[in-house]
Amino acid sequence: MQILVTGGTGYIGSHTVVELQQEGFEVVIVDNLSNSSGDVPYNIEQITGTLPVLEVFDLCDLGKTEALFSNYPDIEAVIHFAAFKSVGESVNEPLKYYHNNILSSVNLLKCMKDKEVNKMVFSSSCTVYGQPEQLPVTEQAPLRKAESPYGNTKKIMEDVIFDTTRASAIQAILLRYFNPIGAHESALIGESPTGIPDNLVPYITQTATGKREFLRVFGNDYNTPDGTPVRDYIHVVDLAKAHVVALKRLLESKTLSKCEVFNLGTGTGYSVLDVIHSFEKVSGVKLNYRIVDRRSGDIEKVWADTSYANRELGWKAEKGLDEMMLSAWEWEKKLKN
Ligand code: UFG
Repeated sequence: MQILVTGGTGYIGSHTVVELQQEGFEVVIVDNLSNSSGDVPYNIEQITGTLPVLEVFDLCDLGKTEALFSNYPDIEAVIHFAAFKSVGESVNEPLKYYHNNILSSVNLLKCMKDKEVNKMVFSSSCTVYGQPEQLPVTEQAPLRKAESPYGNTKKIMEDVIFDTTRASAIQAILLRYFNPIGAHESALIGESPTGIPDNLVPYITQTATGKREFLRVFGNDYNTPDGTPVRDYIHVVDLAKAHVVALKRLLESKTLSKCEVFNLGTGTGYSVLDVIHSFEKVSGVKLNYRIVDRRSGDIEKVWADTSYANRELGWKAEKGLDEMMLSAWEWEKKLKN
């Protein structure tokens, strides 16, 4: 049995490939390497002892996607990560995001339906909740209009997948991630943003190595304990493990409906300053940061109600903020050398 992992050389994808291989699954990766390196499979091999297959092409190419499924008839399930993910870029180039994220997913689902590959785990985001009225946010919270075209592609894809499960034999689990950070303990895989990072943690670690001059903290006048926005940061390895649990749930036909949804977070919110202080503690580096104006589109606070995922998946995030920040720092130092 083989598992197809789209976007498997990317940040969350690569960590998930490691966990899958360590659980005995054979993995085929498809990735166009638009935001990742073709070396990642070799780093995965160093961790697990097994080199995953990598097919380099774009899922927007329907012919190549069909050929992939014909060439790998043992694929039983798909974990779908491949997507553009920069919120800021998506605002400036919406068509790039709608074209890539949606067409690739529609092609994938078409091929799955044709080849009767009927199980999909999808990489969604807590962005679909916007600023929730009630915290912690449960899976039943109303979905809101996305702040960015990127967020909207996640929302649209959830709808596309849901509708497809209703009209075909495909079953899916949608995983709504909160804020994944950190890196594998080996420091062989991690997040390597191209250009200037959008996200807080790579910006912190790049500032600490001197690659960036200072971190801008976007606003300290929010209605939160220290005035900076609060998020539910989750270690990428905890997140990766949840994908294996979700996959097994599909393969063992334990799902309660054709399209299930789970929040993946720790259930604890931390502010931007909490994250900075944790980083300073575990790294011993004093971070150069300045409070600046709010960033447009940022929400004030969000953290997950994880009780449904904990109970139903039998999965719980285990790693705390310090461990997340230390692993992110070890990875950044390795990248620099
Ligand atoms: N922040 C800073 N300075 C920076 C970068 C971020 O202060 O240089 C702050 C932000 O204002 C925010 C927090 O750090 O308060 C986290 O910001 P990130 O950009 O790391 O994460 P977001 O919560 O904005 O975005 C994440 C994912 C998106 C997803 C979104 C859903 O990166 O993919 O959550 O809310 F859409």
